[in-house]
Amino acid sequence: MPSIPPQNQAQTPARLVVLVSGAGTNLQALIDATNNPDFGARIIAVGADRDGIEGLDRAERHGIDTFVLPVSDFPDRVDWDIALADQVAEHAPDLVVLAGFMKLTGPAFLALFGGRTVNTHPALSPSFPGMHGPRDALEYGVKVTGATLFVVDAGVDTGPIVAQVVVPVLPDDDESTLHERIKLSERQMLVDWVGRMAREGYTLDGRTITFGDS
Ligand code: GAR
Repeated sequence: MPSIPPQNQAQTPARLVVLVSGAGTNLQALIDATNNPDFGARIIAVGADRDGIEGLDRAERHGIDTFVLPVSDFPDRVDWDIALADQVAEHAPDLVVLAGFMKLTGPAFLALFGGRTVNTHPALSPSFPGMHGPRDALEYGVKVTGATLFVVDAGVDTGPIVAQVVVPVLPDDDESTLHERIKLSERQMLVDWVGRMAREGYTLDGRTITFGDS
C-alpha cells in the first residue's frame, strides 16, 4: 500500500492536495502551518465539490491552485469519482487531505490514493460516523466526544486511525457550540499529525500506522 516512505524523511516537502466543501478552517490551519518551511509539506492544490465556498477563497488568497468538480456536472457518482481521481493525480500529491470534504471518495479515487488519503471527522470513531458527528453525539448524550484523523478506506469514517483528540460536551451545548469546540482541537490535531506523516514518513499495516523507521 502506498505511503510516504520512511527513508525519504523530510528530504523534500511532501506535496499535499486538500479537498474541502465549506468554511475551510482546517484548510486554513494547514495553510498557516505550511508557511513554515520546517513543517515538511506544502499545499499544491485545493479541490472542492462546490463553488462559492470560503475554503476556495482561502486557497486563492494564498495563491494556491484550485479546482471545482460538482457531482451534478457528471452523469453519476462513478464518473465524478474518476474525474476527481484524475484531477487530483494531475497534482502528483504525496498525501491527500480531506478537510471538511462532504463527499465519499469512490473506488477509482481509492485505487490511486488509497493509503495516502486522510480525513478528519468531528467525533471519536467508531462512534457517530457520517455527516452529523457533533449532532449525533449530542443527541446520544455522551459526556466527551472529539475528532478523529484516519486513513480513508471504502467505508464511512472506518479507516485506520492516525490520531484522536477528546473534547468535553458541556451541559448547555448545542450542535454549533459543540462543533466549534471540537474544531479548535481538530485543527491542531490535523496540523500535528499531517506534519508528522510528511516529515517522518509512515507505513500502514492493517489498521496500524507506524511513523519513521521504527
Ligand atoms: C470539520 O469539523 C470536519 O471534521 C467536518 O466538517 C468540518 C469542516 O470544517 N467533516 C465532516 O463532518 C465529514 N464527515 P472546516 O470547513 O471549517 O474545516
